[in-house]
Amino acid sequence: MSKKMNIQQVKQRFGIIGNAPQLNRALEVAIQVSSTDISVLVTGESGTGKEIIPQVIHNLSSRKHKEYIAVNCGAIPEGTIDSELFGHEKGSFTGASGSRQGYFEVADGGTIFLDEVAELPMQTQVRLLRVLETGEFLRVGSSKVFKTDVRVVAATNENMAQAIASGKFREDLYYRLNTVPVALPPLRSRNEDIHLLFRKFASDFADKYRMPTVRLTDDAVQLLCSYSWPGNIRQLKNVVEQISVIETERELNVHILSNYLPAEKEAVPTKFNQQGSENFSERELMYKILFDMKKDLTDLKKLVLEMISQGAGFSIDSTQAEIINRMYSDVETSNSDSTKLLPKASEPNPSSKYAVNNTNDFNSEDDYETHEEVEESLSLEDQEKDLIKKALDKHRGKRKYAALELGISERTLYRKIKEFNLTE
Ligand SMILES: Nc1ncnc2c1ncn2[C@@H]1O[C@H](COP(=O)(O)OP(=O)(O)OP(=O)(O)O)[C@@H](O)[C@H]1O
Ligand SMILES: [Mg+2]
Repeated sequence: MSKKMNIQQVKQRFGIIGNAPQLNRALEVAIQVSSTDISVLVTGESGTGKEIIPQVIHNLSSRKHKEYIAVNCGAIPEGTIDSELFGHEKGSFTGASGSRQGYFEVADGGTIFLDEVAELPMQTQVRLLRVLETGEFLRVGSSKVFKTDVRVVAATNENMAQAIASGKFREDLYYRLNTVPVALPPLRSRNEDIHLLFRKFASDFADKYRMPTVRLTDDAVQLLCSYSWPGNIRQLKNVVEQISVIETERELNVHILSNYLPAEKEAVPTKFNQQGSENFSERELMYKILFDMKKDLTDLKKLVLEMISQGAGFSIDSTQAEIINRMYSDVETSNSDSTKLLPKASEPNPSSKYAVNNTNDFNSEDDYETHEEVEESLSLEDQEKDLIKKALDKHRGKRKYAALELGISERTLYRKIKEFNLTE
């Protein structure tokens, strides 16, 4: 680009709203580096608009007619991410029936946006460092060196210093990615932009839903601007959409508006500590612990049962038999006689080696297993679903934070959402 676009032109072209100095600074840097091949790391809390920056950079660069590929590093399973990024050769892993180009090959001459870059597994970080330093990479399962010319823009809302300190992220890669940092400010520090954004979104949603534009009374504007917006612009946009659709009143006073803003003390925290669960109420936390324990217990019961039924060559004395009977007594089977799994302590043990599968008493093992499975999984599944829904609602669909709060990995959460069909 012979003459660089100025900030206002960029804002207009990319639909970026706001005049906060930190936002202008971020855009200025993006414009400035767009004509180079320098790696850029975009940082900022969730919902601050990080995804716009790589698009600005790509579209203002001479790479704009080549590929732009955005990759959400947190959403790709660890087992396939190397192959997605760098390609693979036929037969390099089970199911690799043909060879395939990776994004770094496809985007030759273009730009790759690595979103949630802190989620990259270690082995991928090594490959990424190499391609950044030398432009060289290997397909998975091949030793042939390929060359590529890709510009990388990465983004994260993680504390990278912490990720490095805990050994989760390579320091050398961090410095390589962070050649030029672009930091997006949280909405709460962009006071002058909040009402501006509200009006823009209100007008967009009025068009979209063919309704008159919602407006705010003066006291409502005050509340809007003093609110902490833990979910930043994404949250503001969601709130305006809800209001636009739900409210019949088109002029909102402070009382109506406050219904749409979660109480500050319950609001999504902007940074999470390791446990992440602090934000669940005590009752929910206890419930989660019980839930985990119950699951462990079910697994243990199954394990013991399996060991016994395989006649694993261990003997069970009468006390142990009583314990086992008690543990399994909550499991009613259709055949009332078969609820006794083991003889009572008072009953003589038929043989010191108690091979469960040899007794008629236990011929309902299948019943038992099916029954327990159905009963347990139904209630556990519902409870798990419920917890996941709750966490997703609380974090307005942000899976990363919901996963943190649930104490499971983001990948597991993605899987569970799919499994339970929980699309937001
Ligand atoms: N300055 C802005 N003007 C208008 N809309 C914006 C602006 N910044 C962000 N948005 C909108 O806010 C929403 C959230 O932005 P984005 O998805 O880029 O957040 P993010 O920083 O990538 O968050 P996360 O870390 O959670 O992925 C998007 O719908 C985006 O279009
Ligand atoms: Mg994002």
